[in-house]
Amino acid sequence: MKNLIIKAKETHSLTKEEIIALLQDESINEDLLKAADEVREKYIGNAVHLRGLIEFTNICKRNCLYCGLRRDNDNLKRYRLSEEEIIDFATKAVEYGYRSIVLQGGEDDYFTVERLTSIIKKIKALDVALILSIGERSYEEYKALKEAGADRYLIRIETTDTALYEELDPGMSHENRKQCLRNLKEIGYEVGSGSLVGLPGQTVESLADDILFFKEIDADMVGIGPFIPNEDTPLKDASVEGHFTLALKVMAITRLLMPTLNIPATTAMESLNKNGRVMALQSGANVVMPNVTEGEYRKLYALYPGKICISDTPAHCRGCISGKIQGIGRTISTTTGSHKDQMSMH
Ligand code: SAM
Ligand code: SF4
Ligand code: FES
Repeated sequence: MKNLIIKAKETHSLTKEEIIALLQDESINEDLLKAADEVREKYIGNAVHLRGLIEFTNICKRNCLYCGLRRDNDNLKRYRLSEEEIIDFATKAVEYGYRSIVLQGGEDDYFTVERLTSIIKKIKALDVALILSIGERSYEEYKALKEAGADRYLIRIETTDTALYEELDPGMSHENRKQCLRNLKEIGYEVGSGSLVGLPGQTVESLADDILFFKEIDADMVGIGPFIPNEDTPLKDASVEGHFTLALKVMAITRLLMPTLNIPATTAMESLNKNGRVMALQSGANVVMPNVTEGEYRKLYALYPGKICISDTPAHCRGCISGKIQGIGRTISTTTGSHKDQMSMH
């Protein structure tokens, strides 16, 4: 099995069967994670990109079975930030030194292209890279948002298993999700995708397909998160056993196959393991997305239980995450961390 790790390190290529073998073998975990760390350092160096995350609406018209923001969850107080609040949080994020901002939210039709355009233009005037994560929209809408100034877009495929996806995301079409990714690429965004690891009914075969899918679509960023069951959703009784380690392994193999990719150490990882983001940074990740949303909103963006930082301020998180990054001998990037720049480093 160690030969497979060496092959992946040298050729950045594995077959589906080889990926499955790595995912199933627990005895190679340490070597696998270490190899991903080495590939990350060799190709893109030690800098960690910090992206200020603004969770600007928890209102969602979708009903994904795994997510606390799903429309049928009546146990959640809903909010949407005003344009002024969004710009205020973005301005403070820039003051913390963050060079890129992520605007993430439920699929909330209140935020029309017109409203988003006004917000995007004001954020872009702060001289940052702007990343949107607002779900499925039409080709024309994605194009208009790009023209307004958005640089990148995150939309996870969640799983490449079509039957599982359509069971867990009622009313949503897997084909449309994939079309969104193709449209975003064609329009010229840097595109992020990713998966939830540990979904009920998910197989290692489909996780291997996920990794190969990221390569096939030529993703610029891949966010891998462990699935964490939420009390207020139909999947409340699902297990969480093994999700953290498996998510780390999926992430590490993704790094081995795509050496210059942007890979975040996800918040969900740290929600399952108190050292989760540092472990992810030492297993292939090179990005962290500290929350810059303020006050009660943090608690209300309740995707899953145990979410970190819900009672902390953005300033506290800035100090906390910088300390963790420097504590493992890594540096904080001073660039916007675009994948294109990273590709040209090598
Ligand atoms: N609504 C947009 C979308 O779905 O693409 C963006 C916001 S959505 C809350 C961001 C991500 O949260 C989803 O892509 C999903 O992978 C993740 N998520 C939702 N529920 C989760 C859970 N229970 N555990 C871990 N991650 C979860
Ligand atoms: Fe809405 Fe996204 Fe949650 Fe699905 S994952 S319910 S689209 S916020
Ligand atoms: Fe928020 Fe550590 S990053 S408390």
